[in-house]
Amino acid sequence: MTERDYSGPDSRRVQQMFAGIAHRYDFLNHFLSLSVDRRWRKLAARKIRDLAGMSPAACLDVCSGTGDLAIALDRSLQTQIVASDFCHPMLTRANGKFGRHAIRVVEADALDLPFPNMSFDAVTMAFGVRNLQDPFRGLCEMRRILKPGGAAVILEFSKPVVPVFSQIFEVYFRTILPFLGKMISGDAAAYQYLPDSVRRFPDQEHLLQLMRRAEFLDTGYKNLSGGIAALHWGRAAT
Ligand SMILES: C[S@@+](CC[C@H](N)C(=O)[O-])C[C@H]1O[C@@H](n2cnc3c(N)ncnc32)[C@H](O)[C@@H]1O
Repeated sequence: MTERDYSGPDSRRVQQMFAGIAHRYDFLNHFLSLSVDRRWRKLAARKIRDLAGMSPAACLDVCSGTGDLAIALDRSLQTQIVASDFCHPMLTRANGKFGRHAIRVVEADALDLPFPNMSFDAVTMAFGVRNLQDPFRGLCEMRRILKPGGAAVILEFSKPVVPVFSQIFEVYFRTILPFLGKMISGDAAAYQYLPDSVRRFPDQEHLLQLMRRAEFLDTGYKNLSGGIAALHWGRAAT
């Protein structure tokens, strides 16, 4: 599977699936990853700070879900954070968590963002791109709303690159995780969708190529936890 022939899951199905698991999403994220996901989001927030500076004028977190990356961004940056997602119940959970964080919430489709061209200095997306029906279009939207020279960071599950470790992880991800996810959330399909969608999604190099096709410059990526996840980044042209 290359970035050219990949097409993502149906948007309506994804929206309904996240609506159905929103109440258990955070608990399962942290439980199933042994809280490693928190560290990955912190690294994503640090990377955008490295690229965009401590005080970019505005930062958008697309596919923000229950808002964990938006909160990490608010802790890391001195700027207005905007959290957007198209799943109302996920954003309701996010709103409930934001408390003292002055994060603006916008219900919006990542494939048709309701923001003018060049309106943000920084944009992020965690575990969103794999869920987009048209990932290329989502990346183009992220680049479109960036100001010249603005920075993008994408956190996503990827392909483990360390041999024995990757085999152990495969067993966990394909058998134990769906079982635990089903037991705790009551939604077998959603936690079967997770490993299935990760398996179908293009690898690190192909996501990099897709970002380049979406006209991001200065692109790169870094494997996290042996490639279980990866951070990708790029900039809009100046
Ligand atoms: C796996 S969750 C990630 C949530 C959050 N970023 C995190 O780190 O936990 C994926 C999110 O992408 C959202 N999503 C998927 N397709 C979308 C689209 N086309 N527009 C907006 N949000 C979308 C889903 O509603 C869901 O909240």
